Amino acid sequence: MRAISVSEPGGPEVLTWTEHPDPRPGPDEVVLDVAAAAVNRADLLQRKGRYPPPAGVSEVPGLECSGTVAEVGDRVTDLTVGAAVCALLAGGGYAQRVVVPAGQVLPVPSGVDLVTAASLPEVACTVWSNVVLTAGLVAGETLLVHGGAGGIGTHAIQVGKALGARVAVTAGSAERLSRCAELGADVLINYREQDFVEEVRAATDGRGADVVLDNMGAKYLPRNVSVLARNGRLVVIGMQGGVTGELNLAELLGKCGLVTATTLRHRPVEEKAAIVAEVATQLWPLVEAGTVRPIVHEILPIERAADAHRMLERSGEVFGKLILRTP
Ligand SMILES: NC(=O)c1ccc[n+]([C@@H]2O[C@H](COP(=O)([O-])OP(=O)(O)OC[C@H]3O[C@@H](n4cnc5c(N)ncnc54)[C@H](OP(=O)(O)O)[C@@H]3O)[C@@H](O)[C@H]2O)c1
Repeated sequence: MRAISVSEPGGPEVLTWTEHPDPRPGPDEVVLDVAAAAVNRADLLQRKGRYPPPAGVSEVPGLECSGTVAEVGDRVTDLTVGAAVCALLAGGGYAQRVVVPAGQVLPVPSGVDLVTAASLPEVACTVWSNVVLTAGLVAGETLLVHGGAGGIGTHAIQVGKALGARVAVTAGSAERLSRCAELGADVLINYREQDFVEEVRAATDGRGADVVLDNMGAKYLPRNVSVLARNGRLVVIGMQGGVTGELNLAELLGKCGLVTATTLRHRPVEEKAAIVAEVATQLWPLVEAGTVRPIVHEILPIERAADAHRMLERSGEVFGKLILRTP
């Protein structure tokens, strides 16, 4: 098969479409013929040598894909050859074939085409596991989504609205904020010009946000604690603004607030399978009803993976997700 290789850590030009050995399934795994993979910000870090795959996982980038089941392991009973699926991967998606634990495979939601389905597993599992399973967002609460125009953000806005929450977002331009509004965002904050703490307080009669989904890490930690409502929950999923910040415990304690941080890629297979099962039963019906839609900026041929990385690296260019279609 062919797959994208990272010839050496570096810029987008190190991504090349080359020959690789075909993967074989273990007893609890399946091999997929990949129709498409989607691009994640973590892939950029992996390409630079700063986010290596977990032990035993392919060096080929790619955290999600769609395709058809090509081979099933001896102990897999619920998937058959030829089924159209999408999958949450620990790596290996930028390829013609990939091996994945059967528990990380999802059906393609009805109404979504096979290629577009590649854009769903990572955002769906990340948003559902953090906003719902970890932070417990419920109807009537306020959700603050940082980076509302990104892959995660565009999905989180829609999930928040579907759950009956009020959704505030940050983004880097008026144009991106208006596109977030089209997805249902209620409170629009330009992070280059406005202070999100002030804006969220103003929009909530001073209460603040019940749940914050954060991509910035250290840079936003003090202000994310400030913006929390009483009993608020801050979930950090990204460290685009650094890893070490200062946490004001007195402020957190006064609010009975919760700060947590999670990763999807490095969780044990069993935990990922539990999240995938929740997504299939709770979130897929919302996708099938059209309440939560895949937001795809562009579909490129996989040989142009380097161009896709360049696009994602340019701030403010991509709204939603980029997909790489295999030949
Ligand atoms: N922990 C996990 O399991 C997990 C899983 C998936 C993703 N993630 C992380 O989640 C984050 C988002 O992923 P993604 O796929 O959505 O990436 P993405 O599509 O590249 O989006 C990144 C977003 O960051 C925004 N941003 C940049 N500077 C900002 C600032 N100062 N304040 C607020 N937002 C800012 C950008 O907004 P503008 O473009 O409007 O400037 C952009 O929308 C990444 O850090 C990723 O690594 C974590």
